[in-house]
Amino acid sequence: MAVLAFLVCLVGIFQLATCAPKDAPLPYPVSDLVFSGELGGHQVAFNGTIQQVYAKTLAAHPDFNVHAQITANIASAAKVTKRNKSNHFCSQDIGNPWRPAKVDKIVDGIHYLQNKARCGVNPRSCARISCSWDSAIFLCNDRNDFIQPSCAYLASYASDIINFCHQDVNGIGIAVAGQEFDTENYNVLYTSGKLSGGLGSVEGDLV
Ligand SMILES: *[C@@H]1O[C@H](CO)[C@@H](O)[C@H](O)[C@H]1NC(C)=O
Ligand SMILES: *[C@@H]1O[C@H](CO)[C@@H](O)[C@H](O)[C@H]1NC(C)=O
Repeated sequence: MAVLAFLVCLVGIFQLATCAPKDAPLPYPVSDLVFSGELGGHQVAFNGTIQQVYAKTLAAHPDFNVHAQITANIASAAKVTKRNKSNHFCSQDIGNPWRPAKVDKIVDGIHYLQNKARCGVNPRSCARISCSWDSAIFLCNDRNDFIQPSCAYLASYASDIINFCHQDVNGIGIAVAGQEFDTENYNVLYTSGKLSGGLGSVEGDLV
């Protein structure tokens, strides 16, 4: 039986805007999120992190109001249909394979993702779906075909992992790294995070 696996990880970075995983390696090469759907009343299709997709949408449609979109995303988030979510792992319970990312930066990414569009990932690859400051969310596809789940559905996994796995890390604050599986369609979601080396380092949002 084919097993569909999504893998989402929250990963900190050492270098600006790379959001490359530094701890446990991802199982597949990293690729772009393949985004398509409605943003700010425009049908768009762009590749990149969700923050880059917003920036490209703004470049193509100067009337696109990012703040209004985020506000609407947050308002609609409660309406995401509950699906079949299975077990999860928190990094701190499985030997810390991934270092935690700051929760507030992951929440930023979640708010970008809570839209009405689809977040696609190529076969046997890991899409970097969000990169905010030192924290990234990856979605990995274990299948041999392209999949395009709802971005908001993926955001709900990241929210779950925060709820399950958040911890107060000395010197960092509230941080999270974890993994969650979905029974539906045999999906697997996974998050991990890592904080960048210097807490004082300045890294910018992409939007
Ligand atoms: C986005 O990525 C998909 C899958 O790799 C590719 O088919 C498509 O051409 C890309 N689109 C753009 C605008 O680069
Ligand atoms: C959840 O899983 C149950 C049992 O496998 C199945 O009957 C049900 O349709 C699933 N719900 C969704 C929303 O997929």
